[in-house]
Amino acid sequence: MECCRVLMIAIVALMLLFPVTDAWGIDGHDIVCNIAQSRLNEAAADIVQELLPKSAENDLGSVCSWADQVKFRYHWSSPLHYVNTPDVCNYNFERDCKDDNGEQGRCVAGAVQNYTKQLLTIGSNEGSSYNLTEALLFYSHFMGDIHQPLHAGFASDKGGNTIEVHWYTRKQNLHHIWDDNIIETAEERYYNSNVAGMIDAIQKNITTEWADQVKDWESCSYTDTTCADVIPRLLQIQIKRLVLCRYASEGIQAACDWAYKGAAEGSVLKDEYFLSRLPIVNTRLAQAGVRLAAILNHYFK
Ligand code: ADE
Ligand code: ZN
Ligand code: ZN
Repeated sequence: MECCRVLMIAIVALMLLFPVTDAWGIDGHDIVCNIAQSRLNEAAADIVQELLPKSAENDLGSVCSWADQVKFRYHWSSPLHYVNTPDVCNYNFERDCKDDNGEQGRCVAGAVQNYTKQLLTIGSNEGSSYNLTEALLFYSHFMGDIHQPLHAGFASDKGGNTIEVHWYTRKQNLHHIWDDNIIETAEERYYNSNVAGMIDAIQKNITTEWADQVKDWESCSYTDTTCADVIPRLLQIQIKRLVLCRYASEGIQAACDWAYKGAAEGSVLKDEYFLSRLPIVNTRLAQAGVRLAAILNHYFK
């Protein structure tokens, strides 16, 4: 009995020492889902309202982190929050999108594809055989995760989870800095510690500074596996061997260019890192929200 207690204490201590986090933090997901919900057309807004649990009071942002809360109940869903490359700055579906047992498609890009397909069964004549409330919550969450640069990171450091650095004076792992700390510091410094202020600021940028790029963010290209339905069948077969997902490709590129750069084990990250990386975080949150809305608007016609 004593040995079990010691073992338990050791396991808990290890978990506290080396936390492996799995998502943008609560605020990151809240921001993505708020931006998305505000951009829905009437039909899509009605369907989202119908699918949301009553307790959410028609606020998608309030349940956007649900997928993180059920990771232990739905153990199978844990690997669906991220994708790792073999320490290279490009992403390939066949090479990278598998879980630890090698099962193909079990990564965040595969999950985005899978839940797109589930949501497409809405309103089908025979009725959907999926739980579409859960599909919407998983989908909205994974669209956020795939835009967190270190959710498409290197396998050897688990997307920065094993890289210990300092965030100003506090010890922290690099993954957590991108999930939470950059957003938290921005909220404290610029928005009175208020997530609503950050949402407003990003939304203003979407209609001004980034207005020219929004069309491109929304567009489905042949490199985007979530657009499977709009790719002509013949082309689908031809490109099957080289299936890419634009979101994950952009993610690993940003991870290499911005997240890992200047953040080796033991670094102290402060204003120089924060101020140069915050625009990347803001852009990724905006892209996730814009794309989530565009896809729901497209499918929930
Ligand atoms: N666990 C292993 N790799 C991970 C990643 N890239 N993001 C989050 N959790 C992980
Ligand atoms: Zn997640
Ligand atoms: Zn994470």
